[in-house]
Amino acid sequence: MPDNYLPEVRNQYEALPYPPCNPEDDRKRLVLTWLEDLPMINHYCFAGRQSFQNGFKALVAGGGTGDATIFLAEQLRHTDAQVVHLDMSEASIALAKERAQIRGLTNIQWVHDSLLNLPALAAQLGKFDYINCSGVLHHLADPDLGFKALLSVLKADGAIGLMVYATSGRTGVYQMQELMRLVNGDEADAQRKIANTRDLLASLPATNWFKRSEDLHHDHKAGDAGIYDLLLHSQDRSYSVGELFDWLGGEAGGAKGGHGMHLAFTDVQRGRSPYLPHMVLGAKPPDMTASLRKLPTRKQYEMAELMSGSIITHSLYVTRNAGCTAPYGDAAYVPFFYHEPLTGEMAAQVFGSNKGQPFMLRHQHSGVSVMVNPGKYGAKILALIDGKKTFGEIFDQFRTAWQGKAAAPDNTVLFADFAESFDVLNALDRLLLRHPSAEVTAAK
Ligand SMILES: C[S@@+](CC[C@H](N)C(=O)[O-])C[C@H]1O[C@@H](n2cnc3c(N)ncnc32)[C@H](O)[C@@H]1O
Repeated sequence: MPDNYLPEVRNQYEALPYPPCNPEDDRKRLVLTWLEDLPMINHYCFAGRQSFQNGFKALVAGGGTGDATIFLAEQLRHTDAQVVHLDMSEASIALAKERAQIRGLTNIQWVHDSLLNLPALAAQLGKFDYINCSGVLHHLADPDLGFKALLSVLKADGAIGLMVYATSGRTGVYQMQELMRLVNGDEADAQRKIANTRDLLASLPATNWFKRSEDLHHDHKAGDAGIYDLLLHSQDRSYSVGELFDWLGGEAGGAKGGHGMHLAFTDVQRGRSPYLPHMVLGAKPPDMTASLRKLPTRKQYEMAELMSGSIITHSLYVTRNAGCTAPYGDAAYVPFFYHEPLTGEMAAQVFGSNKGQPFMLRHQHSGVSVMVNPGKYGAKILALIDGKKTFGEIFDQFRTAWQGKAAAPDNTVLFADFAESFDVLNALDRLLLRHPSAEVTAAK
């Protein structure tokens, strides 16, 4: 393997593969990763039209011990799709392989290499429809070089599922990392550094910034590998959402070195809600809420990140054009509930609770509270969503049951009326779209 990687980083992941795992656990449960759910990839990366058949190819770059690889390979088990797992840590690949063997997965190719070598590997690996790169670029000496390497093997209509650290939510982490550098000084032994960290964590006052925000983080409770990854990493940087818009979304070839990509953010369990001021402030909206909603998306996202303070990682889909997100307003699409065992009837009860008037939606799983105007017909439309019917069929059924004196509303009126209900459920990633032309391979 050519040595274009950071030796200290490689040593860390050879000694402490991440995420820590026991392959035997794969006999009992499947680890799900938020970005790799095929219905999510389909909605945000392929305008709801991807069948994941016809030689679909996925790359997991810096795949570690295999969470994303195993989840993708499981979902694609009965297709002709291939998953490539690439990592520079042999120890991590060995664990991921063991997991795949236990599961009897035969659709994974293993590549022990640096992702910076992807341009050279293209001839051998080909190009990919989907690339996962989660928790990796921020550990490179030059993250942009890493991103360019990913782009070099991405198909023209392909998509990247990316996760990088977020600055504001990790404020306490960076103070703790700085503290541990001071405490550990020249100490080279990883176990002694970890022991020092444990000792301090047990004694720090509640005023310490890491302690103040400890509930946001879990890795330091996940054994040695977690502590090292979170608080002792030798190469770790973070981004504000504005920096990501500049870097990945900024004008390609522009002075700031942007890539001209389209970004669709989706935080684990919360979708894009933590990037929307009206959803972050929803429990007690200030008078300015309506004017904030009119601001450009990027500005709203930058404000919301600072308002909430709870975004510790940025998870997003990166595509070459904005048309990759399934469009709302096309009657040919099928809406379906996702991420929760929600039915049309259940949603209709909640959205109809205030007789068509605005109500406070309190969404337990995400912790989001927000006022929603369900429109005149929102509850009735929700009741007809069954994950099979298209919007066109739902609206036809709605009109068949119409008992009003005036003519029944047409599709344009119904789409407009339902827009706010769709918007809020879609922002939480609880309501997604697919095109019937692409029968998505069953997930889970
Ligand atoms: C924090 S772990 C993330 C693992 C996995 N992607 C996940 O989200 O669970 C970072 C991984 O990136 C790998 N890595 C770091 N730099 C790399 C490089 N230049 N080429 C390939 N893998 C790299 C490490 O070996 C490690 O397995």
